[in-house]
Amino acid sequence: MEIVKEFSRFAHEYNKYNVIQKEVAKRLVSYIPKGLYHKILDLGSGDGAIYKALNYSNIEFDKFVAFDFSKEMLKIHPENDNIEKICMDFNQLNSFSIFKKDEFDLLISSSALQWSRDLLSILTTIAPLAKEHYFAFFTSNTFKTLHQTVNIDSPIYSRDEITKALDKVFSYEMEIVEYSLDFNSVYEMLKYIKRSGVGGGTEHLSYKKMKYLLENYPLKYLEFEVLFVKSI
Ligand SMILES: C[S@@+](CC[C@H](N)C(=O)[O-])C[C@H]1O[C@@H](n2cnc3c(N)ncnc32)[C@H](O)[C@@H]1O
Repeated sequence: MEIVKEFSRFAHEYNKYNVIQKEVAKRLVSYIPKGLYHKILDLGSGDGAIYKALNYSNIEFDKFVAFDFSKEMLKIHPENDNIEKICMDFNQLNSFSIFKKDEFDLLISSSALQWSRDLLSILTTIAPLAKEHYFAFFTSNTFKTLHQTVNIDSPIYSRDEITKALDKVFSYEMEIVEYSLDFNSVYEMLKYIKRSGVGGGTEHLSYKKMKYLLENYPLKYLEFEVLFVKSI
């Protein structure tokens, strides 16, 4: 399978701790055919990267449901007459009982479902809610060299675990994109990981391991691997 590679440099800017998620949201939306959609559900909507990317791409819709379990994130999500904000946890499967079968034209989830506790159960529950599905999952190859350097496991699903779950629920097309983000120092990388919300696994590193990492991480960049999925 062909793997797309993208390179960026970390810049000290506003919104800097989610540069990769923003790129991911734009790419995911680029797979959606232009047109007018009735209702769209965005799982783990965050600060509205998907909503903004849809507007930017001139994809029109009557109603957009922003679903997130963080009140703070929903607060900073754009507001509009056609946006409904729902504060719920996608790990609680009964959260989805408020929706009807085929209620949505599009179900989108970008950079969020790597946090699902039981991916197969969520996918099985959400599949009937929409006609088309678009997902972007960060995989465990994200921060791979960093994890290897200090000998820790990624807290998020592997590519294999994600495709195994998808295979049971969807017919789909997928693309894998590797991103790398350059930094001036390992210290800045660790700060980025902590704030990015992607799933670093570095939160509980001992002082000794942290010191080892700062001195021995061999790359000038952080690695990210994202699996893009479109149901067919
Ligand atoms: C990395 S952010 C991505 C946000 C946005 N989709 C984007 O592309 O920029 C992940 C989002 O998923 C939300 N999230 C994580 N676990 C969740 C859960 N169990 N239920 C609902 N939302 C969740 C977080 O609050 C956060 O806003």
